[in-house]
Amino acid sequence: MKDTQLAREAELRRTFAIISHPDAGKTTITEKMLLFGNAIQLAGSVKSKRNDRHATSDWMKMEQERGISVTTSVMQFPYGGRIVNLLDTPGHEDFSEDTYRTLTAVDSALMVIDGAKGVEARTIKLMEVCRLRTTPILTFINKMDRDIRDPIEVMDEVETVLNIQCAPMTWPIGMGRHFRGVYHLYNDVVHLYTQGQGSRIPDDKRIEGLHSSEVDAALGEDQAEELRMEVELVRGASHEFDLDAYRRGELSPVYFGTAMGNFGVREMLDGFVEYAPPPQSHKTDKREVTADDERFTGFVFKIQANMDPNHRDRIAFLRVCSGKYEKNMKMRHVRIGKDVKIADALTFMASDRSQVEEAWPGDIIGLHNHGTIQIGDTFTVGEDMRFTGIPHFAPELFKRVRLKDPLKMKALQKGLQQLSEEGATQVFMPIDNNDLILGAVGTLQFDVVAHRLKEEYKVDCVYEGVNVQTARWVYCEDAKKLEEFKRKASANLAIDGGGYLTYIAPTRVNLQMTQERWPDIRFQPTREH
Ligand code: G4P
Repeated sequence: MKDTQLAREAELRRTFAIISHPDAGKTTITEKMLLFGNAIQLAGSVKSKRNDRHATSDWMKMEQERGISVTTSVMQFPYGGRIVNLLDTPGHEDFSEDTYRTLTAVDSALMVIDGAKGVEARTIKLMEVCRLRTTPILTFINKMDRDIRDPIEVMDEVETVLNIQCAPMTWPIGMGRHFRGVYHLYNDVVHLYTQGQGSRIPDDKRIEGLHSSEVDAALGEDQAEELRMEVELVRGASHEFDLDAYRRGELSPVYFGTAMGNFGVREMLDGFVEYAPPPQSHKTDKREVTADDERFTGFVFKIQANMDPNHRDRIAFLRVCSGKYEKNMKMRHVRIGKDVKIADALTFMASDRSQVEEAWPGDIIGLHNHGTIQIGDTFTVGEDMRFTGIPHFAPELFKRVRLKDPLKMKALQKGLQQLSEEGATQVFMPIDNNDLILGAVGTLQFDVVAHRLKEEYKVDCVYEGVNVQTARWVYCEDAKKLEEFKRKASANLAIDGGGYLTYIAPTRVNLQMTQERWPDIRFQPTREH
């Protein structure tokens, strides 16, 4: 790193997202982190988000509550001398490709696991996405105030199911009603838990030294002795923390606590700001961009409808990769080849959004988008290059679109084209017929698309089931082979919204058999924007 103001500002940034299964405690831990960052006075402010989490098909209501979700999309707060940017990944039913793509804009992730439930489905999926970029993962095992599973067993499960080594950093002292605190394995400090401090910054009652007589006095001799034996066992049986292995995404430091009781979170945050990587370099089609490069660059990873339904304004979220953003600066919108002056970018300080005067690598800024910005777009100060690695993910849910008024076909096609460019859904047009098939990662995406087609393009449509279970993008260097494949497999081939050839498989077994039958064809689960 160079010694410039830019390099120093970049070095301060820690940009991350939380990966977890619904109900593991993501919202609760977010509140507690904001509390420690003094970004909110009392935990509970993020909670309003919970009200709309069951509103699967109630898109109107969600639209009205958009203000909340826009402001919680990015939360910036200071902690331990660093500036932390937490990018929200929508949980629950509103799970979508946004969640996946947000992970392309972070430098590390925090995995929150419900200690009683262990590794759950959504976490496995999100972890697969992190693997694509070897994102470093820090783990928080939550709900120690409940009777969870044996902590060693939970760590074993993380290791085997998620294929990552675990290095316990703190170790829980009891659990459930007998939860007394955590022992920090590297600082040799016992932190004692006091109930009822969930909504404020808790006192740090600490005892230096596991073998101190104060530990016996605080825990009672039996529990103290048990803890010492357990710690010895854990030290012998688990991996030691290794910063390089963590940064390579091979080993995860593990912290224990209770988000609700606001305990163990401080130790985790301390570890996070110390070990998590600062803004990393990003690949483009021309060169690799490092954070300390003075030339401003960034890419758009998410587009979100704005609060005001009366105009079509949307916010494009841009991750700053290098250089400094300053109010009124001119940027090149590379894809359309235009220079634009940006006077009103937004920043997201906790629950408040305000105009930002400057932003540094690792920061996220919100650009007003009147329909010209797409997901994956690169912004520079004149350089003609594009960031790579912001992928489309193969959808897992498919529906056929049927128009209520057949004369609206043109409007429907235009709407779907634009919504797919924006990343709200994916469209597939089979080669052999005139169907229009939508693909999504989460079911709410379908409701959003239907609603927006009606509001913004005046098209009424309904969905029907379709016999597609999964999709893969098809590539082959051998043109003759590809032609032959197109002829023989045409019943299962489609063109997607970006013009790419896609195999839409009726079943996973069918996909597997087709892959075996056509070894020269590559079937890709992601494609670049
Ligand atoms: P999510 O965003 O990952 O979906 O989880 P969220 O924080 O909303 O937490 C899910 C439920 O788990 C909430 O209960 C929350 O209070 C509870 N929870 C979170 N952390 C802990 C913890 O450390 N210990 C215990 N015992 N519970 C925890 P809820 O009943 O769904 O909501 P609420 O009525 O408590 O708000």
